Amino acid sequence: MTDFRTLFEARRSTAEELAGRVESGWLIGMDAAVAGTPTILAALAERAKRDEVKGVRVQTLLDVYPYAFYADNSLYGKLTGEAWFSGGGARKAVNGGWADTIPNYYRDAPRHIRAGEDYDLFVASVSPMDKHGWFSLGATSSYSLAMIEKAKHIFLEVNDHQPRAVCGAQIHISQVDGLVEVSYELPVLPPTKQDKISQTIGGLIAERIEDGSCIQLGIGAIPDAVGAALKDKHDLGIHTEMFTDSMVELIQCGAVNNSKKQIHRGQSVTTFAFGSQRIYDYIDDNPGIAILPVDYVNDPNVICRNDNMISINAALEVDLWGQVCAESVGTRHMSGTGGQVDYVRGACQSRGGKSFIAFSSTAKDDTISKIKSILTPGAVVTTSKNDVDYIVTEYGVAHLRGESLGSRARQLIAIAHPNFRDELTFEAKKRGILI
Ligand code: COA
Repeated sequence: MTDFRTLFEARRSTAEELAGRVESGWLIGMDAAVAGTPTILAALAERAKRDEVKGVRVQTLLDVYPYAFYADNSLYGKLTGEAWFSGGGARKAVNGGWADTIPNYYRDAPRHIRAGEDYDLFVASVSPMDKHGWFSLGATSSYSLAMIEKAKHIFLEVNDHQPRAVCGAQIHISQVDGLVEVSYELPVLPPTKQDKISQTIGGLIAERIEDGSCIQLGIGAIPDAVGAALKDKHDLGIHTEMFTDSMVELIQCGAVNNSKKQIHRGQSVTTFAFGSQRIYDYIDDNPGIAILPVDYVNDPNVICRNDNMISINAALEVDLWGQVCAESVGTRHMSGTGGQVDYVRGACQSRGGKSFIAFSSTAKDDTISKIKSILTPGAVVTTSKNDVDYIVTEYGVAHLRGESLGSRARQLIAIAHPNFRDELTFEAKKRGILI
């Protein structure tokens, strides 16, 4: 029998030594959020600063570590980031012009990866090796397996703080070229601010969710507020892209038991998790949560197999057609499409399903209406007018799917902030949308 411990020792190295093996022109891939490898990437950034490598590209998704290639524009061209979905670092770098972004529906990322160029290196943070030589990819599955298939080399950061997901992606020591043992706590997402507006919106959506529904909650304060408003429900299920704190809370208070799901009954399903230490503790050794590849989890044809599928996501602005922008403020890049459209479509295809896009009616101290006559020039359409379903603000709920342009405009104006309703009505009349 192979002695996996001996293999482990043979591949064990330092971050500096692993970074030293990277060559100019390499393409490096890594998966979402806490799957990142900050120690290896920091050592590589030091090499780039010393001009030892150039033309190295690193792909990220929801960067949650302070990677130097996003923070330091002098690394552009030596070590350059490309974001499948931008976190704070990538957002700044893409807007500054020293990083790039890859437009995609999240469910398609593994397909693009398999069809695209090879990866010279795949890096991942994993939990300690088990007695059979396997490492769990921990809180993230997403597109890791696709990148592993396309990678010429694989380096790991083996972190004893990375949870072991028993129903999640795994990698075997025999596939690995080098590893470094680290021990640092995973980054946590600061709790979102729950103000009166988000609580009102949470309540409006919770009223429309029946016991036994299956939920997806997106990223941001409003989806979290909906989670908080669901604590009195019964027999809810979870099929989501990002597993969040509010979901652990719903499981632990008994509102979620996954008992009514048509697929993965008894189990929550996600493609990655990011939040507090409470989440990572929940995942560890827990067969109650499956962390599966995004081309499966976010496929609308999979999502819709659960009846009463409810998706709840946030947005930055919406026009009178119901076109939703969730990823830019005008031309200023913010994030990405992520799984928003995957879940809007999946929920709307599900028997009894509904999709909610929710946001406060204004931004910047009530000076900007998020409901607009036309989108701000440069705004990117995330969810199209043909996919959109419910739009929710603190002033109410608009149901747009299947409705005429006139009905959409009337409903949206009714849930806009009162200060902007006259102006929106005037614009709609000028364009002949309302008479
Ligand atoms: N005009 C100008 N500024 C606006 C604005 C508008 N219409 N709407 C929001 N802003 C500003 C806010 O004031 C805030 O500014 P600040 O950072 O200075 O406080 C900033 O933009 C972020 O807005 P906020 O509403 O707080 O964002 P959020 O953290 O709740 O995230 C999205 C909202 C839409 C950016 C986020 O949900 C996202 O990236 N979605 C796309 C992907 C998705 O939905 N995936 C689903 C599965 S996870």
